[in-house]
Amino acid sequence: PVSGAGETGAGKFVIVANRLPVDWERTPDGSGRWRRSPGGLVTALEPLLRERGGAWVGWPGTTDPRVGEAPITFDDGLTMQPVRLTGQEVADYYEGFSNATLWPLYHNLIVKPEFYRQWWNSYVEINRRFAQVASESAAPGATVWVQDYQLQLVPKMLRMLRPDLTIGFFLHIPFPPVELFMQLPWRREVVEGLLGADLIGFQRPQAAQNFLWLARELTGQETSRNSVGVRGRFGVVRSGFRSVRVGAFPISIASAEIDQQSKTRAVRTRALAIRDELGNPDRILLGVDRLDYTKGIDVRLNAIEELLEEKRMDPERTVFVQLATPSRERVESYQTLRAEIEREVGKINGEHGQVGRPVVHYLHRPVAREELLAFYVAADAMLVTPLADGMNLVAKEYIACRSDLGGSLVLSEFAGAAAELRQAYLVNPFHLDGVKDSIVAAMEQSSTEGRRRMRALRRQVLSHDVGRWARSFLEALAGQIDETAPLESE
Ligand code: ADP
Ligand code: G6P
Repeated sequence: PVSGAGETGAGKFVIVANRLPVDWERTPDGSGRWRRSPGGLVTALEPLLRERGGAWVGWPGTTDPRVGEAPITFDDGLTMQPVRLTGQEVADYYEGFSNATLWPLYHNLIVKPEFYRQWWNSYVEINRRFAQVASESAAPGATVWVQDYQLQLVPKMLRMLRPDLTIGFFLHIPFPPVELFMQLPWRREVVEGLLGADLIGFQRPQAAQNFLWLARELTGQETSRNSVGVRGRFGVVRSGFRSVRVGAFPISIASAEIDQQSKTRAVRTRALAIRDELGNPDRILLGVDRLDYTKGIDVRLNAIEELLEEKRMDPERTVFVQLATPSRERVESYQTLRAEIEREVGKINGEHGQVGRPVVHYLHRPVAREELLAFYVAADAMLVTPLADGMNLVAKEYIACRSDLGGSLVLSEFAGAAAELRQAYLVNPFHLDGVKDSIVAAMEQSSTEGRRRMRALRRQVLSHDVGRWARSFLEALAGQIDETAPLESE
């Protein structure tokens, strides 16, 4: 059954994402209310949604049958259309196909993807449900922007329901090399699903190029063969009478807001208190991630362990803080990862810590926004070492918080952000000695060198924010020429 649909149908602009940007918050009287969660995507899109009277379609993140019967409206006019999922659907569509098939397949098989028909069938069914709710939320001729790997079939399904719509799709995670994608038993269906869009956006040009090759091979359609640029020089796939454009649009953060928030007295004071609580070490190293095997948390821990053993890092003067948000906890590979990380943290502290003075401080819980910014302000070196990552917003958030030009960023070459953040200490996370050398270099850089690097990094991040990302995508989408439409004279 389709839930939460058909209430308005008035949105000129509709966002479709697996998750609604809301959290259910318990109130003191024992009931609860929806609170908007503050991610960068919502920040960027909220003004557009309000301006154009739009809606956000997504899963509220709970299987409580009382939640999601009606649209959630906020005082400022924002409407959220919930798509409800049963417990079984969460297991098959979300934990199964999205996060145990597609996620590892698109992240270079760091763990082995599992292919099950039942999961695929559920993915098809839930994508159809999202398409249905989206079609009922969209006004005639509206623009609908579909987000991420959980919903790759929605563009085609939505186009079949509503040929009047302009449909965009953006993939937030890497799009894999073609020989990995070709493992997917339903590879043609996924490519055809995406080709329902007018514009398909990726984080990086190489991803767009991979997609063009696959579209050619798997659907037999003509495609452009020129190299794709960033926010320009789009590729094209002919799809019947339509042409689908393909481009690279690296996502970013609400840079100015984060910069401002990081300068508040509350954040500055808290940053000093954090340093104090950690025992005023000379160097604070920081990691901030969802607890995910793509993030290379183990790489950092291994590097730190070896540096301690080799006496290149002083456990009396250095601490490493790892903030790890719980994620996808019912998926087995995430349970295995958690056990490994926690064993490694225990091992390092057991061998190198003192009573009351661990070397590694590990929190397995989400941290409030202000607290997170205070950690960024306090950290002398930020360790971002994913084995594969679409972008990595944490790296950009850290930079936005360093108006003091202090701190240093160690960044994996395999994060999308590395293409833009060239003045970071770039590392290959598979080369442990290289990671160790870069951590040492980042800890020991002169203040002149650090300021030079941070100034350049900040110039990039502050001039390329999430608003620019959204505008560049939506402008490209609006410029779409529908070749089936008659030409109009001026
Ligand atoms: P991903 O989207 O794969 O989780 P990103 O780095 O692109 O990785 O984005 C993660 C987002 O989640 C960032 O905005 C970051 O601030 C937030 N986040 C990550 N870990 C934590 C944490 N422990 N507490 C609070 N927020 C976190
Ligand atoms: C990545 C994905 C998002 C996803 C987020 C959190 O950023 O690209 O689509 O929402 O991780 O994961 P979760 O499974 O909790 O939604």
